[in-house]
Amino acid sequence: MTITTVAHTQSLAIPEGFFSQQPLIARAPGRINIIGEHTDYNNGFVLPAAIDKAVYVAVERRSDHIVRLYSTDYNEQYEFSLNSLTPTGTWCDYILGVVDQLLKAQLPITGFSLVLKGEVPIGAGLSSSAAVECAVAFALNELFDLELSRITMAGIAQQAEHTFAGVRCGIMDQFASLLGKKGYAVKLDCKTLAYDYIPLQMEGLSIVLWNTNVKHSLASSAYNERREQCRQGVTWVAEKYDGVESLREVTPAMLEETVAARNALVYKRCKYVLDENARLLAACEHLASGNMQALGQKMFESHSGLQHAYEVSCPELDLLVDWARDEPAVLGARMMGGGFGGCTINLVKEDAVEMLSERIAARYYGQTGLQLTTHVARIENGAEIII
Ligand code: GLA
Repeated sequence: MTITTVAHTQSLAIPEGFFSQQPLIARAPGRINIIGEHTDYNNGFVLPAAIDKAVYVAVERRSDHIVRLYSTDYNEQYEFSLNSLTPTGTWCDYILGVVDQLLKAQLPITGFSLVLKGEVPIGAGLSSSAAVECAVAFALNELFDLELSRITMAGIAQQAEHTFAGVRCGIMDQFASLLGKKGYAVKLDCKTLAYDYIPLQMEGLSIVLWNTNVKHSLASSAYNERREQCRQGVTWVAEKYDGVESLREVTPAMLEETVAARNALVYKRCKYVLDENARLLAACEHLASGNMQALGQKMFESHSGLQHAYEVSCPELDLLVDWARDEPAVLGARMMGGGFGGCTINLVKEDAVEMLSERIAARYYGQTGLQLTTHVARIENGAEIII
């Protein structure tokens, strides 16, 4: 494929003649989450951060109603009309879902051409889909002078995931991708969307992602099922207690009283969410006071909850966390993101990262026949315009 001479075309591999002039280029990152898993759609707390792996989009306005999309990674091109957007079951949905939300909000957009290139591994629990949605929302906001706030764009990107990708996700991934800050984690209250930046100064420690390189197929159906179980629990508590709209207003005693005897599984799921919120609040204090050992302990506890109570882990993730527990150089480890595959997040003593990654990868290969990949996450800013 020949490359034009406009800036960044080389790294984005923009096909010759795709744009008539220098396109606008935006980047939006993937994310990690230190603790607070499956709490966002329950109005709880999360502690994500944007990372050094991002999605890039180049965009140019058109004067018609055509949306022309090219993916560098898939080497595929599609065209759609703004007048009839429906889910396609392809990578285009993460883009079209955003466009559909902009149209529904009656924002003044026209057709456009777009090139997409991603470096966030897909299915790794690093929110590659949110990164695409956020990069698109951010780029189109700039291209069409829509003047949307980052928080509004996060909501739009989340809705895109609901309507076009079919996953009823919370706000964490999109929020982190748009509002992340270099060197900081975002402590986000998903009920009010109030947030604080907490410095991630972890002297002598690295945030290491070990990718199982598996993604089990039940991930999105199980995700929606967990969400539904939590909603059921809330309904039962609310029959007895006024003002209960989410698990955030629910105490362990209320849960015990109104849900435990009615449905043990729903109780177990809801109790996990309450416990995870409590773990997150404790973890934030440990982080602020520099007690990394205690923070790591909360991460291990989080994993146990995800494995046994919320049941969204898988054997490959459990192996990695079990081995991490036996390593003195690992302060904390847990599965990250929606679950059923993807990465574990590990707090590892910096000087042991290389040796340990090699050892765990060899052990993982020996046990599963699968390759383990390691990424040491650097914490970066949220979405930005590059050109
Ligand atoms: C996925 C979703 C998020 C969040 C996590 C689990 O990443 O997109 O909204 O629910 O799973 O914490």
